Amino acid sequence: MNVPIKSDRAAWLQGPSAECSTLPAERARPWRLILLGAPGVGKGTQAELLTERLGACHLSTGDVFRAAGKRRDCEQSPAMKAAMEYMRRGELVPDSTVWEMVRERSNCILHCSGFILDGFPRTIGQAESLRKLMENEKLSLSAVVNYELPVSEIVQRLSGRRTCEKCKSVFHVKDRPPKIESVCDRCGGRLFQREDDRPQAIKVRLEAYDQSTAPLIRFYENLGLLVPIVAQGSPEEILARTMEKIAAGPQGQE
Ligand code: AP5
Repeated sequence: MNVPIKSDRAAWLQGPSAECSTLPAERARPWRLILLGAPGVGKGTQAELLTERLGACHLSTGDVFRAAGKRRDCEQSPAMKAAMEYMRRGELVPDSTVWEMVRERSNCILHCSGFILDGFPRTIGQAESLRKLMENEKLSLSAVVNYELPVSEIVQRLSGRRTCEKCKSVFHVKDRPPKIESVCDRCGGRLFQREDDRPQAIKVRLEAYDQSTAPLIRFYENLGLLVPIVAQGSPEEILARTMEKIAAGPQGQE
């Protein structure tokens, strides 16, 4: 039976030397999943639910960049300052900066509880770097889940999204409202609207997805790892669909 665990991404967000307050339990057959899909399709929402169900670490490169952007100016490297500018415009951060950050935190990826990668890899170059790291450690991916949704619904999801400034839980003003307006159900933190959820940045993000991230679908399809999932319906329905499909997938477990 799966024991739900509380999502703890604090260490991943604080930097390479930080440790999780409660380490996820060691698993005999850990899940190592990548979540693909356009911005706003619901990857973060599903990653949270899957983390509770599967007990793996949830790693979101977007969350790490946003956490780094909140540090004091003097604590930010030039590469991190440049990364913030790319994000504000809705463009992808250069592969070298992304990989530097992921490599610093490779202990999370190598941890025996497994991982759920949300927002990484985003380019073929990033996927190749991850493949090499995992090959060196003799680890393999369980599946690559690709969430699919029409653009009109994606824009509606992004424009109503609210995120907790403390624990990063995700809500939607209409479809997943918090119990108390602007207050996080999980930790009581303040909810805010992301800067890159403005219409102009949304447009740039969708273009960047088509150009750089969509080719990853073919990349993982060729490796026999792709599991396409329709991302319509409630988050719980999509979770059930995901669990069923990954269990039946080429490397399905449980
Ligand atoms: P990142 O934070 O990764 O953003 P993203 O991929 O654009 O994805 P989002 O977080 O916007 O959406 P999501 O799919 O997680 O949807 P969510 O669950 O929140 O990256 C941000 C930026 O960082 C990038 O643009 C780039 O600049 C940079 N970056 C990060 N990683 C990078 C990398 N590897 N390489 C280069 N650059 C990188 O859901 C959206 C909304 O919909 C929410 O309000 C939610 O409540 C609602 N919702 C979810 N599911 C449902 C449902 N079933 N029904 C109704 N509403 C739903």
